[in-house]
Amino acid sequence: MDRKIIRARLLHFLREPQSPDDTGSFRYIEDGGLLIEDGLIRACDDFGRIDTTGTELIDHRPHLLMPGFIDTHLHFPQTQVIASWAAELLDWLNDYTFPEETRYSDPALCARMAGAFLDRLAEHGTTTAVAYASVHAASAEALFTAAHARNMRLITGKVMMDRNAPEALCDTAQSSYDDSKALIARWHGKGRLSYAITPRFAITSTPAQLDAAQALAVEHPDCYIQTHLSENHAEIALSCQLYPDALDYTDIYARYGLLGPKSLLGHAIHLSDREIGALTDAGAKPVFCPTSNLFLGSGLFDDAKLREAGLCNAIATDIGGGTSYSMLQTLAEGYKVLQLQRQRLHPFRAFHWITRGNAVALGMEGRIGTLDAGTEADFVILDARATPAMAQRMERARDLSDELFTLQVMGDDRAIVQTYIAGEPRKAARQG
Ligand code: GUN
Ligand code: ZN
Repeated sequence: MDRKIIRARLLHFLREPQSPDDTGSFRYIEDGGLLIEDGLIRACDDFGRIDTTGTELIDHRPHLLMPGFIDTHLHFPQTQVIASWAAELLDWLNDYTFPEETRYSDPALCARMAGAFLDRLAEHGTTTAVAYASVHAASAEALFTAAHARNMRLITGKVMMDRNAPEALCDTAQSSYDDSKALIARWHGKGRLSYAITPRFAITSTPAQLDAAQALAVEHPDCYIQTHLSENHAEIALSCQLYPDALDYTDIYARYGLLGPKSLLGHAIHLSDREIGALTDAGAKPVFCPTSNLFLGSGLFDDAKLREAGLCNAIATDIGGGTSYSMLQTLAEGYKVLQLQRQRLHPFRAFHWITRGNAVALGMEGRIGTLDAGTEADFVILDARATPAMAQRMERARDLSDELFTLQVMGDDRAIVQTYIAGEPRKAARQG
């Protein structure tokens, strides 16, 4: 039996914090112990209350231990288009991203990049990811294989796209159905893996292909569905032109049965009140991608409006439109996006969002995003003094809230001391 105890300051959230003073929303243990057994958390308590006899002890004091971060939207084949110079979304896709994704027809490249991708996530503190693979079944296959070998919780799917892209990147309605179906049979529910039915967006799918996606969703209601919605004005106009019978962009997906509680909708920026109502009725999950929305100049996500309508918003990096793998940097940019709209993202809500909040959006709050006994042992060790600038700031920190806000605004991979996935350390020591 694999058993260990981690000693650190422990913090996790019990519910969404309602205000900066809502100290009842989290559990903080100044000298805590986490007992890990076979990839699960067996106990989370004051260190003095944990039975340590005969068990390996790892001492991470004075650092802060939190549940691992959850990234709900990013693209596996886009790690080498981060920082590509483009005017806006459709240029960026056509000029850089689609040509780059054609490289993933090569299974050897997919296997090499899958390992590198999961290494990048671990070194940035991300323990669960919801990723788009490329159109090639081999890319999803490689990512599932690599995640399974690390016992990492991962949701992915091969992209379905059968028009408005280079021929080398197009499947057909039938082949996308067949390939997705085979991947679901092979991987969905295996270990910690889940499948996401992944029509890229309305522009790159014919009506026949959205029919195929609907058939998959009906046949596999426990799979996730992921797509992009309302990121940019040119994208919205072209989508509505391609689906003239739909009331609006959201209605395209509604007509094909693609909106439900397991639907993750990347961006969701420029929505009408009717669309927000339709998403709320469906229980679909908008995904805020701040670094990407700023980088591509797509627009400002209206978190407060969507929340007031009853939606549960997720948050994500959107690599490679997004510019950082770090969920801390994602929070930093998210904070600024909300500031521009007179909305305030206080640190307790921010850290709830990238842990338990994203778990709730995935319907997985009983398994990840928490340190409760019986849940999966995915957690990060954080150092708010990781850089000289952070250490200098921290000299004047008064409390936990200041420490978290320092991590939220100034933190990145340097603040991640270690990342544990199913109880195993997965961040390699820094070279040089
Ligand atoms: N819309 C369709 N595909 C993509 C993509 O790869 N990235 C972003 N940001 N938006 C998209
Ligand atoms: Zn995306």
